Amino acid sequence: MLTRRQTLGAAALVAVPFVRHARAADVPRFALGVASGAPRPDGMVLWTRLTAPPGQDDLPEVVPVRWELARDEAFGQVVASGVEAAERTWAHSVHAEPAGLEPGRWYWYRFRALGQVSAIGRTRTAPAPDAPATLDFAIASCQRYEVNHYAAWRHLATDGLDLVLFLGDYLYEYGAQPTNVRQVGLGRIRTLDDYRARYALYRSDPALQAAHAACPWILVWDDHEVDNDYAGLQGQDLDPAFPARRADAYQAYWEHQPFPKAARPSREGMRIFDRYRWGRLATIHALDDRQYRDPQACPRPGRGGSNTLPRRDCPGMLDPARSLLGAAQEAWLAQGWDLERPWNLLAQQTLMSPLSWRDPAGPDGPMVWTDGWDGYPAARQRLLDTVRERRVPGVVVLGGDVHAHYVADVHANPDDPRSPVLASEFCGTSISSHGWPQTRLDGIRGFHPHLKFARSDRRGAVRFRLDDRRLQADLLAVDDPARPDSAVGPLRRFVVEADRPGPQPA
Ligand SMILES: [Fe+2]
Repeated sequence: MLTRRQTLGAAALVAVPFVRHARAADVPRFALGVASGAPRPDGMVLWTRLTAPPGQDDLPEVVPVRWELARDEAFGQVVASGVEAAERTWAHSVHAEPAGLEPGRWYWYRFRALGQVSAIGRTRTAPAPDAPATLDFAIASCQRYEVNHYAAWRHLATDGLDLVLFLGDYLYEYGAQPTNVRQVGLGRIRTLDDYRARYALYRSDPALQAAHAACPWILVWDDHEVDNDYAGLQGQDLDPAFPARRADAYQAYWEHQPFPKAARPSREGMRIFDRYRWGRLATIHALDDRQYRDPQACPRPGRGGSNTLPRRDCPGMLDPARSLLGAAQEAWLAQGWDLERPWNLLAQQTLMSPLSWRDPAGPDGPMVWTDGWDGYPAARQRLLDTVRERRVPGVVVLGGDVHAHYVADVHANPDDPRSPVLASEFCGTSISSHGWPQTRLDGIRGFHPHLKFARSDRRGAVRFRLDDRRLQADLLAVDDPARPDSAVGPLRRFVVEADRPGPQPA
């Protein structure tokens, strides 16, 4: 028997010689799937975007899209529904926001427009703020489409997760290379339409669609959603047109992710940093380390962006006025630590623990990469000082960006491995983007006693189970990232006890 999609595909082939509007009804309108995000105790955001044939936008200016949310997968008990206007100005995206839902339960949702119905997505509300809760979640990042397949997403889509925390590099702006695993014609992204087309390409992947349809996501961006190594309004090549390009990238980001309507960007920016409660269990602080940061210290001559250099050759790096989060977000975080719940999960972009390319205790001191927290040591120390002074419980730093699994003790003074362990860090490897050869990390492990695990040669994600007593972390690894059907399995397990900062092997 033909599935609906196969039927549509056959019809589209036959319809080629016919007039445009006769064919329009056969074009898949929900080809990018569905998604949900920003779960709250009484609601969440439901997302989709209507699609047109490639290079031929035949959609009306405004399309009414009906959404339904039910307590059951068969939609026997629809508890909320509505109509949203999908507008060309916003790439015919839909951001529906059901409200008044029950806390801590699962729901199913779907969309209808132009005589078609979308795939069904599964989503949930957060538990009530005073309710006991557990949380099964994963962190994921860095999913460069053309260099590998998404076996990690295929695995996570059926792994019983309540929530995905996506920590940046949802897409990459680069053009295609002849060696790519997925042969797709990609130019370097320049325009709003380029960003939109790139999201559409990524969202065409069935494994990524399945992961979005399986549970709500909370997302933050890193640099590649706009351009490598950008900082605030400065691009790495110091192009004066960069602010306009950033605005286009932020617009496309909102159009393609399940953020609420209130987050819709202006040309000046888009607020993505936010705080989410998960019952009595945890507060998730989702940070933005790109939009408000000071430029990287000591770039190469005539350029912006990152550099790797001895810290002693770059005194400006230590300037306490420099910030990775910006003053307003730093204050928001400092004032918003949760002193009631056992866990504070910091959903942010990159490795917080120090990483030096030579022995930091040697006569010449550390050699660091200026784009990460190592390039903003005073800002890192301010954050950690607040955690120490306010005795913030259960701080777990979650990150991505560096395409390697790192598990680390976060010390009160990151430069002093004898200082107390204040927090725990899990930096997850990339879903698909290439990592360094393992030999590079093996060569520096000896002078990084705070790193409990460091593995750059595997792709994957980290799968967590959290209750009020402990966090269990399974570092996942894809056997063969070039295969969409590759096996995915646990590489190593660590636990963190609620009253004892620092990951322990399990
Ligand atoms: Fe990345």
